[in-house]
Amino acid sequence: MSAVENSASQETPNPKTDGSELIRFDGVTKRFGDVTVLDDLDFSVRSGKHVTLIGPSGSGKTTILRLLMTLVKPDAGTISVGGRCLTHQERGGKLVPAGEKHIREVRKDIGMVFQQFNLFPNMKVLRNITEAPVHVLGLSKDEAEQRARELLELVGLTEHMDKYPTMLSGGQQQRVAIARALAMRPQVLLLDEVTSALDPELVAGVLDVLRDIAHSTDITMLCVTHEMSFARDISDDVLMFDGGKVIESGAPEKLFNDPEHERTREFLGAVL
Ligand SMILES: Nc1ncnc2c1ncn2[C@@H]1O[C@H](COP(=O)(O)OP(=O)(O)OP(=O)(O)O)[C@@H](O)[C@H]1O
Ligand SMILES: [Mg+2]
Repeated sequence: MSAVENSASQETPNPKTDGSELIRFDGVTKRFGDVTVLDDLDFSVRSGKHVTLIGPSGSGKTTILRLLMTLVKPDAGTISVGGRCLTHQERGGKLVPAGEKHIREVRKDIGMVFQQFNLFPNMKVLRNITEAPVHVLGLSKDEAEQRARELLELVGLTEHMDKYPTMLSGGQQQRVAIARALAMRPQVLLLDEVTSALDPELVAGVLDVLRDIAHSTDITMLCVTHEMSFARDISDDVLMFDGGKVIESGAPEKLFNDPEHERTREFLGAVL
């Protein structure tokens, strides 16, 4: 049994795997100035599934993930995570804009890994991973360190736990960032082009770790990637996004080999 399989059950404690809707966008519109980036967007991701978003540069893929992280707010529509609305909450029988506390609660279900790892430069690797579980989830230092050690084994970095991020390669830093996101035991992991800032020879190691996580745990994943072979490997569903909407979706075999939409054919022709 690999280290990944070994620790998988401990690392994904109670992700929902009942196939219920974990993420739902309902009529979501997002504008920046005069530009409508998301246009009445509907889509959903079921629990335990690995869904990949593909589409042209500047089409709004990162914006979708940033909305889920509540880093930006929609202009219209609703977003829910685990059946709880991210944008609104019920108060006194009425639906009102979500308050900070409500948003923080829903956000606990979501982990994100960014293109630029965003590690805390002044903290050693182990502390990068324990910081949020201790301060946000209220774990004891011992519990958080135990969890961090298991995750470092999962991403193959046990021997680097006492180093500072700048002492690691980009690929190693990105694997720390993946461990850090998993340490919060989110229901869903959002991945935004996590290998695009890496030197080509470091890409495979990070994708291997993600493949292991995808195949050996029940965590739900929503990935934005330009790595089409990775998308093909790990995805249950691929969503082709263009013009503010999902224009086509399906299993990777279908979408990559026999797309319905002319725009999808064009896009795949350019990137494959
Ligand atoms: N904070 C912002 N202020 C103004 N415009 C923004 C902001 N964030 C994104 N945009 C614009 O929204 C559009 C979508 O951006 P987004 O980053 O979501 O695209 P993307 O699909 O992730 O592109 P890429 O594949 O290049 O990463 C772009 O035109 C971008 O310039
Ligand atoms: Mg982007």
